[in-house]
Amino acid sequence: MSGHGTPMPMTSLPAGPLSGVAEVPGDKSISHRSLILGAMAVGETRITGLLEGEDVIDTAKAMRAFGAEVIQHGPGDWSVHGVGVGGFAEPDQVIDCGNSGTGVRLIMGAAATTGIAVTYTGDASLNKRPMARVTDPLALFGTQAVGRSGGRLPMTLVGAADPVPVRYELPVPSAQVKSAVLLAGLNAPGQTVVIEEEATRDHTERMLAGFGAEITVEEVDGKRVITLTGQPELSPQVIAVPRDPSSAAFPVCAALIVPGSDVLVPGIGLNPTRAGLFTTLREMGADLTYENERIEGGEPVADLRARYSPDMKGVDVPPERAASMIDEYPVLSVVAANASGRTLMAGVKEMRIKESDRIDAMAVGLRANGVTVDEGEDWWAVEGLGAGNVPGGAACQSHLDHRIAMSFMVLGMAAKAPVRVDDGAPIATSFPIFVPLMTELGAKLA
Ligand code: S3P
Repeated sequence: MSGHGTPMPMTSLPAGPLSGVAEVPGDKSISHRSLILGAMAVGETRITGLLEGEDVIDTAKAMRAFGAEVIQHGPGDWSVHGVGVGGFAEPDQVIDCGNSGTGVRLIMGAAATTGIAVTYTGDASLNKRPMARVTDPLALFGTQAVGRSGGRLPMTLVGAADPVPVRYELPVPSAQVKSAVLLAGLNAPGQTVVIEEEATRDHTERMLAGFGAEITVEEVDGKRVITLTGQPELSPQVIAVPRDPSSAAFPVCAALIVPGSDVLVPGIGLNPTRAGLFTTLREMGADLTYENERIEGGEPVADLRARYSPDMKGVDVPPERAASMIDEYPVLSVVAANASGRTLMAGVKEMRIKESDRIDAMAVGLRANGVTVDEGEDWWAVEGLGAGNVPGGAACQSHLDHRIAMSFMVLGMAAKAPVRVDDGAPIATSFPIFVPLMTELGAKLA
């Protein structure tokens, strides 16, 4: 769990060319889902390439607390002996999900339609985040929730012993909410339907089908209608987790802005519901190519090659792309500061309720480092200074947010003076090898 230890200040000094191969860790979204669905299957699921970041380890511990046998055999190599849909035992301790909104919201869904009481908590960041977006739809199944004011953790959910299936149209574009409802629908009789106006990451749908659930996705009047038939027996799977495009974003963006760089980031999942950043970077004029494009485990995968791109231009990022790059705007803003002209990012209010208010955290830190940023509730804009013109030299706050800490470290690599963050410890939640990996490429992190 992050946020419980001593803060770890970090400094990023201007770096020489970054070069080499950056093997980033497994996808965080797919890692959480592998453990949870593995725990809901009957028999042994085998997982390779699992992200061993703190967020995912907290989910592994939670699955053990619900009665699944979760074993690490080697680095990234795990097995989960599941207890079947509806087979979760009542944990005898509080479930602590650390920093992870994905972990807690998916687990709440998975346990919501089994007649057990579960108390959830997290770190200082997670305990500020809204949970009603999940507990409201779970109440439709018959689940009861009591938490702190504003629907915040710590919170106890009493699962529905006789759940009814649900039809739910998502009021916010959130894969976590969609997934919580689908996982709850697994133990409800009949058909649970989730409707989304904007396509969000679809790993839960893909993996449910892989585990043998009956699930269909139709396009009706421009909306995605997902129908899941409840109470299946899920069969255990062999899962190779692809590398995380959200982690790949950091070495890719760093290579684009550090003079002379040429970095290969192999085996990155390019599921269209996740790849919006790379489309945007190419629109800005980034020298970013997809090599060796292939399909692995049903997902499009490529090796990304990023080279220093001094002529990038600011762009308007369309709001309809937001869901496919929601976690990548912080590091995009760092590239935008090194491009020429204004980059406008609209339709992004969900950024305000992530591990931190990410618009505010980036805007404050960028301004301190000499970059002009404008913002509204649902948008923000960065005035690019052109390649290598960011002054840097200031200290920023990471607000217990891994992606904010890593984005400021990338800012420092291409700035004129070092950039500092007050606490880099949260990086371990999603990208525990960030410092050695970036250092090996040529970054100067202290
Ligand atoms: C995730 C969904 C997104 C994303 C998060 C991971 C997931 O959150 O920001 O990092 O794995 O479902 P929202 O559902 O809040 O958009």
